[in-house]
Amino acid sequence: MEQPPHNLRRHLSLRQLEVFEAVARLGSLKRASKNLHVTPPTVSIQIRKLSDAVGMPLFEQVGKRIYLTDAGRALYESCRAMFTNLEHFESTIADMQGLTWGRVRLAVVTTAKYFAPRLQGSFCERFPGVEASLEVANREHVLERLQANQDDLYIFGQPPAGMDVEAVPFLRNPLVPLAPPDHPLVGRRRVPLTEVGGYPFLAREPGSGTRLAVERLCDEHGVSLKVRMELGSNEAIKQSVAAGMGLSVLSQHTLVSGGEEVAILDVEGFPIERQWYLVYPAGRKLSIAARTFMDYLLEEGPRIMEMPAPPAPEASPPVGGSAGNASLARSG
Ligand code: PGA
Repeated sequence: MEQPPHNLRRHLSLRQLEVFEAVARLGSLKRASKNLHVTPPTVSIQIRKLSDAVGMPLFEQVGKRIYLTDAGRALYESCRAMFTNLEHFESTIADMQGLTWGRVRLAVVTTAKYFAPRLQGSFCERFPGVEASLEVANREHVLERLQANQDDLYIFGQPPAGMDVEAVPFLRNPLVPLAPPDHPLVGRRRVPLTEVGGYPFLAREPGSGTRLAVERLCDEHGVSLKVRMELGSNEAIKQSVAAGMGLSVLSQHTLVSGGEEVAILDVEGFPIERQWYLVYPAGRKLSIAARTFMDYLLEEGPRIMEMPAPPAPEASPPVGGSAGNASLARSG
């Protein structure tokens, strides 16, 4: 291995850093080569040249897996900071040029995947120069992304607690109780919540915003649900409800595709009226593209989704982020 050169800038290239960042983030040469659309040998050569320039190994191999060395970890942190700065610079230039081009990186919680692509699509048609990216993940992962400042905007069903964020409500998010169409509660009016508690229930995974809202309602009414299964996917829950495995509660947005073999029940306390929030770190200066996207959603979101406009914004009501004192009890 060579000695570290005095002036690294002369010995490494941005492309090498880009390749290194992808390998470190994805934890694999093969995945990085796919991601960057280059061959695995190209990736290996770039990493070797970069290690030579740094003068220390950046990865170590244990079995089939590769891990960052201390030097690799330090370089990864520097890379992330450099790339974030470059992205800010890109936004600054885009802002100087007006909204002829730009980028909006959006990260959303699981349930928002039912409407976010439609809103993005409509926005991109209106502003063809703007590139949009979408990351869908569970609430906890989206919170991590928000903390790491990885995206321009976030969509949550409830603003994160204990974080300094701006949260702007832009769309209704009613949660409705679901049953298989032949269930005895279907067609009854104002079913007491306690009766729902008598049937097996299919819950979203701990940490899900939908689950937190159901838990809160049950706590308020002193009702304990008999959780038969926990599922991390709205689609899996709909299928299981249709198959007669139990009752559940999901966002009405999950029923958009129609043709679902589930019935909406009329239960006291429902629909749980919630809202979707656009969230970003407080004090962050949004790029013109992100700001325009936000304004577009506030003005056009309800029309595009054909839902009535949300009620006037209340003070952002942060709620706890954990499923702590859950009233969901597992049934045997
Ligand atoms: P979830 O979030 O998809 O994590 O349940 C949606 C929501 O908070 O309404």
